[in-house]
Amino acid sequence: MDVPRTASGAPDCELCQKHLHRHGPHPADVAYVSCVLHSYGDGTSVHLCGLDFCAHKAERTVLLGPNGAGKSTLLAHLLGLLHSEEGVVRVFGVDPGRNWRAIRERIGVVLQNVDVQLIMPTVYDDICFSARQYGWERARIEEAAAAIMERLGIAGLAERAPQSLSGGEKRKVALAGALLTRPELLVLDEAFEGLDPSSRAEIVELLSELSHEEGVSVVLTTHDIDAVADIADYCYVLRAGGEIVLSGSPAEVFAHADLLEASNIRPPVLAELFEQLGNPARPLTVKAAVEVLKDPGMLQSETNTAPEVGGIGEGGHV
Ligand SMILES: Nc1ncnc2c1ncn2[C@@H]1O[C@H](COP(=O)(O)OP(=O)(O)O)[C@@H](O)[C@H]1O
Ligand SMILES: [Mg+2]
Repeated sequence: MDVPRTASGAPDCELCQKHLHRHGPHPADVAYVSCVLHSYGDGTSVHLCGLDFCAHKAERTVLLGPNGAGKSTLLAHLLGLLHSEEGVVRVFGVDPGRNWRAIRERIGVVLQNVDVQLIMPTVYDDICFSARQYGWERARIEEAAAAIMERLGIAGLAERAPQSLSGGEKRKVALAGALLTRPELLVLDEAFEGLDPSSRAEIVELLSELSHEEGVSVVLTTHDIDAVADIADYCYVLRAGGEIVLSGSPAEVFAHADLLEASNIRPPVLAELFEQLGNPARPLTVKAAVEVLKDPGMLQSETNTAPEVGGIGEGGHV
């Protein structure tokens, strides 16, 4: 059921008095979620209200929030795994809960618990699973599988049983399977869980190439706050219960220490360091921090404070 509309056309959500919805999904949105209410069987309910969520083509959109806030629930709605009782969910313009088959070949997924999606006897069979389901020809699958295994550095794992792999290896295998069919939208839940630092850096680089050079839209969740500046073009912050309280670029989002604290999100370690040094600069990457520290004139520069941004009231990603 779509959300009821007020006379002005804006969604009228009885449960949420402070929603700041746009006027529905825009054709340019790859994914859009507005005011979704989901009740699990045991009575736990998640209300993804507040700001609207939207993901754009060729951007990396990151969901942040404490454990249990509703990040996976939001992704499950995008993937048609859950059906909304209230609210609007659109992916490529359709409701995934009702019409998943129409869009499934355009979407690649790595779930938080990769074990549930690695079901074949060998890594190779697992990576090829979706392409076989979609009826790709054998030669095309072999070529694509070789290329993606090479790209992810997992060619040596092809004959292994997925369940015998380490957590990080499993995540790379699941990612290879998700990417083999060259999806337009890649959804990654806890994208970096189990990855060692060098694997994480490789995946960060890969996601940047995929989105900025190949036009793939990426939606991911992570707890890795210090990586956000490198992995996000745009972020959404959820708080307990599912409310989307903040959105913006990493610099914009991290300027809202108060709202982040209310969502149990600590600032990036570099921001904390500069705050404790009494320096108004808020660099988010080591490179930016080095630039600040190398320039004595910038040490107390007021112009280097975090940018002015909006949180609640900005109306989300348009
Ligand atoms: N299958 C389920 N049954 C009951 N409650 C669930 C289920 N999955 C998630 N929840 C609850 O829904 C809320 C949101 O969970 P989730 O979306 O997994 O949060 P996050 O991914 O942000 O950690 C939590 O309170 C969680 O306990
Ligand atoms: Mg989760």
